Amino acid sequence: MGAQIRGRPVVVTGGGNGIGAALALEATRRGAGHVTVSDVDLEDARAVAERIAAQGGDAAARRCDVTDAAGMEELAQAVVAEHGVPGLVCANAGVVSAVAPLLDTASSDAEWVVRVNVLGTINTLGSFGRLMAAGQDQGWLMATGSEHSVGVPHANSGAYTASKHAVLGMCDVLRAELPGHVGISVVCPGLTASRLWNAASRRPEVFGGSSEGDPGAGAFMEQMGMSAETVAQRAFDGVTVGHFLIPTHYNARAYAQQRADDMAEAYDRLSEIDTTDYDFSRAVAAFLATASDDRDAD
Ligand SMILES: NC(=O)c1ccc[n+]([C@@H]2O[C@H](COP(=O)([O-])OP(=O)(O)OC[C@H]3O[C@@H](n4cnc5c(N)ncnc54)[C@H](O)[C@@H]3O)[C@@H](O)[C@H]2O)c1
Repeated sequence: MGAQIRGRPVVVTGGGNGIGAALALEATRRGAGHVTVSDVDLEDARAVAERIAAQGGDAAARRCDVTDAAGMEELAQAVVAEHGVPGLVCANAGVVSAVAPLLDTASSDAEWVVRVNVLGTINTLGSFGRLMAAGQDQGWLMATGSEHSVGVPHANSGAYTASKHAVLGMCDVLRAELPGHVGISVVCPGLTASRLWNAASRRPEVFGGSSEGDPGAGAFMEQMGMSAETVAQRAFDGVTVGHFLIPTHYNARAYAQQRADDMAEAYDRLSEIDTTDYDFSRAVAAFLATASDDRDAD
């Protein structure tokens, strides 16, 4: 079982540019009934909705800042009221701050990255996920993580790496919590041609204000990055067959392997002096079973 796209509403946050725009267009190519292109920048979202309309698709642009919980709740209610429960919601909006060692990263800059990438993803998955879980229709959530979700591709992007680890963590938790008719995936792209290098040009005043990115970084992403269209195709290929983890760049396997090796080695060092007596998940399961027995007895 995977996401149903054909004839169903699809929502994309951060849909005005880059990977989000490509996801919105790919949804149309795969027969989505309606695409909601949402972005903090309404003009960019409108331009993508117009491209979809020019291709014969049905789309609407909506402004929503993913960090605004009330605004996200309104968006989710409006989409469901007007178009029905989405077959797929892409929690894609994300930002990156200037490349710098973590110890030199301003707290306000880190807060901006965490608020958009972590809180914004929680808001999106939460507002849509609650409506999906409450209904009967099959639905799917997909968050955009990164190769920074599975390991540390490079230093000097500490707040971003932390935020993308959090995206993978929250999706894995939701995988265990969502009812059977709602699925979840996390797409983990590597370097992709987009305007992410210039994200801080739109950083709100409260988090340090606008700061132009390095055009050299933009040219590098353009030349070396995978196209956003290929990332979107691989994301949809994965989500329609129901894969939880959807990597798009094979090179990132090395970062995931390094993390897995480090973990296994660290735990193997313990195996001679510790046992499984402190199995937390077994203890939690036993505790929940007791609590449920107590409730039944009441
Ligand atoms: N480009 C890459 O190399 C790469 C690699 C891995 C993961 N990603 C992730 O892909 C996602 C999309 O990034 P992209 O590369 O397409 O960048 P992008 O800058 O081209 O597009 C991001 C979009 O998100 C929007 N946005 C920013 N803050 C927002 C907010 N608070 N609320 C709503 N929308 C907001 C922007 O206006 C923009 O349209 C992000 O989550 C990013 O972390 C990108």
